[in-house]
Amino acid sequence: MNENPYSTAVLAWYEANARDLPWRRPDAGPWSVLVSEIMLQQTPVVRVLPAWEAWLRRWPTPADLAAEPSGEAVRMWNRLGYPRRALNLHACARAIVSRHGGRVPDSHADLLALPGVGPYTAAAVASFAFGQRHAILDTNVRRVLARAVTGIEYPPKAQTKAEVRLAESLLPAAPPVAARWGVAVMELGALVCTARSPRCVDCPIIDRCAWHQAGRPAHDGPPRRG
Ligand code: ADE
Repeated sequence: MNENPYSTAVLAWYEANARDLPWRRPDAGPWSVLVSEIMLQQTPVVRVLPAWEAWLRRWPTPADLAAEPSGEAVRMWNRLGYPRRALNLHACARAIVSRHGGRVPDSHADLLALPGVGPYTAAAVASFAFGQRHAILDTNVRRVLARAVTGIEYPPKAQTKAEVRLAESLLPAAPPVAARWGVAVMELGALVCTARSPRCVDCPIIDRCAWHQAGRPAHDGPPRRG
């Protein structure tokens, strides 16, 4: 069951067009999903791919990383930028071992309590790794919803409660469908509904996009990245 006006088209588009990213495969465990989300917070997919592979080859479980000094995590982080994330991931691994017996917790509250894990990352791991029903609001999703539903080119700079309510109101009822919807909207924002030159002709919801129907009015202010 898909019950929002966009979901059938967006989910079908995702099945046909999504990138085959290793952390999205059915066999990707929660630790590999958590590592991917922390790396993807500030680094593009193409640079994350080799770093993610190397990281999980070396530390396939939180316990493997927790057993090492934090300097090793920073060294391994290499050129991904924002190396505080390496320290956070190392602290995450130790917290997962000490508080959760070495298994990545599945509850949103427990995930949120991990170092460096904010509301987006907690929702992403609970949703993508555990198939739970959580609103996913990253930069790409916020832009797609701003355009398709609200009819504006870019969302407000800081996330608003109205955006959270909107994302929650669109969530399909069945948790696994909600989880796929989250990653599908994210992918639509990454590949089609891009910040600067959206490819509306390739968009599966062009006929239901409020911004397109309004003639794609320009945002009041400079275009934003993301
Ligand atoms: N797939 C799952 N999470 C993702 C993210 N944060 N960025 C890109 N693709 C993803």
